[in-house]
Amino acid sequence: MRTIAVTRYITPLREGGSLPAIIEADDDGMYVLKFHGAGQGARALIAELIVGKLALACSLPMPEIVFASLNSELGRSEPDAEIQDLIRASTGQNLAIDYLPGSITFDPGVDVPDADLASSIVWFDAYTTNIDRTIRNTNMLMWQRRLWIIDHGAALYFHHSDNYSPERSQDRFPMIRDHVLLPHASSLREIDAKMASKLSPTVIRKIVEAVPDNWLERYADSGDAHSQRERYIDYLVKRLEGPRAFVEEAISARATYL
Ligand SMILES: Nc1ncnc2c1ncn2[C@@H]1O[C@H](COP(=O)(O)OP(=O)(O)O)[C@@H](O)[C@H]1O
Ligand SMILES: [Mg+2]
Repeated sequence: MRTIAVTRYITPLREGGSLPAIIEADDDGMYVLKFHGAGQGARALIAELIVGKLALACSLPMPEIVFASLNSELGRSEPDAEIQDLIRASTGQNLAIDYLPGSITFDPGVDVPDADLASSIVWFDAYTTNIDRTIRNTNMLMWQRRLWIIDHGAALYFHHSDNYSPERSQDRFPMIRDHVLLPHASSLREIDAKMASKLSPTVIRKIVEAVPDNWLERYADSGDAHSQRERYIDYLVKRLEGPRAFVEEAISARATYL
């Protein structure tokens, strides 16, 4: 994975809770920066990294993800004390997403993705237990007439509990009923095997191994960095082994309102 260095803080994005920012980097690109020192903690970044990379591995439309190194000097000229504190608390390695200039929020009343794309996104969000793609907050953008998914910080909710049990990987995820694309997801059964085949244990391991030690080490109650990584790998690999209850759950959630 590439690493960029943040050269300029441009503006905060205040819609969400985590106060991400548009920044400029040493490659002259613009990115949306997710701060490891934000209130949600480093676990939001861990989910953003693992799930964002899994989305890319599934060929879902997700902007590029890079590591972003942040120097505390950057906050010096920032007039807003809250932002200054956030920058100071986030020196070192953060996460950045390629900024899609001129994108607009996905509008469920106007934008209608085709059945295979809608089904793939619903499948993926059920797999990664992402609660954050609802009608109130779609976390999808329209850019260059295409749909893009963003914001996976609330996914992988199992990691908020210190005691991991492998059965968690079989959670059906009933919250999928609130997914904004569920009405369009008419080919869940057809795309199931193809989606699962893109996520081999090797692909999953490679993605999880990229999570930085110092993000994981803040959660000492959950074990050292190595054992936490093994939990993510175990969960994500086991969740794909059939029968995939999360797929059945999404199909039956659709059936209730058809
Ligand atoms: N890559 C991106 N390109 C353009 N705009 C973005 C991008 N990522 C996020 N945004 C905008 O910033 C808002 C907040 O970002 P998001 O990733 O959803 O974080 P959070 O909801 O945790 O604050 C989004 O709703 C969207 O409007
Ligand atoms: Mg969001």
